Amino acid sequence: MLDKIRETASWLRPQIPAETETGIILGTGLGELAKSISIKSAIPYENIPHFPVSTVEGHLGSLIIGTLGDRPVIAMQGRFHYYEGYSMQQVTYPVRTMQSLGIKYLFVSNAAGGMNNTFDIGDIMLIEDHINLFPEHPLRGKNFTQFGARFPDMSEPYDRELQRLATDIARSHGVKLQHGVYVGTQGPSFETPAEYNFFRIIGGDAVGMSTVPEVIVARHGGMRVLAFSIITDLGVAGKIIEVTHEDVQKAAMEAQPKLATIIEAVIKRM
Ligand code: HPA
Repeated sequence: MLDKIRETASWLRPQIPAETETGIILGTGLGELAKSISIKSAIPYENIPHFPVSTVEGHLGSLIIGTLGDRPVIAMQGRFHYYEGYSMQQVTYPVRTMQSLGIKYLFVSNAAGGMNNTFDIGDIMLIEDHINLFPEHPLRGKNFTQFGARFPDMSEPYDRELQRLATDIARSHGVKLQHGVYVGTQGPSFETPAEYNFFRIIGGDAVGMSTVPEVIVARHGGMRVLAFSIITDLGVAGKIIEVTHEDVQKAAMEAQPKLATIIEAVIKRM
């Protein structure tokens, strides 16, 4: 795996400004966030050596190189989900690549179902912590100390200083920001009412099918992480209705300009 990542990074390095320290993962329906990026180039995943290729509807697969908030960034437009059949190494391959390219800050977005009964569809939740319920750990197997420690600390998975900045910015832009714990599950089925209730009881505010493996690997690699969920449906007793992928995408689309504003302002000010 080490050799492959080195090859991927060596192939990409000449195309990315050396001072680039910020990486972004654009989740479901958030690909449009790319519109705020002043794009220098977009490399389809299939052209990048050893990169997995994205298959899900609504996930364009390309690595965007450009600037956001006047800072150089690289952004993954489209991510790899465990439920698609990728291994955990493939799911987190882009994060390792970013680490090898010198990325220090990782911004992550996703769509999620809200279990907190104060949440509404279209709300943005700042992820303060997560619960990993994936059936497999992304760091299982041989540890590469070049990347990080065998037993990485997870006492502050989401950077407190960046959270504070995001909270201030949301307030000053008049964007309602919810805060909470993200539960990461494998999917691809949405939750049953009993499962939403269970995730609420164990301390979750929102549930989704991504982010946790990427954040674990990013933290293993020492990156500072800021992540947001767009609440696209509700797993709250009495409010649970049938959910489709299209509903999720539509709700995410509507909320994403607010999230774009926050992310851009954080990058500008950090
Ligand atoms: N559950 C899991 N993943 C999701 C949901 C949900 O309700 N909404 C969007 N992604």
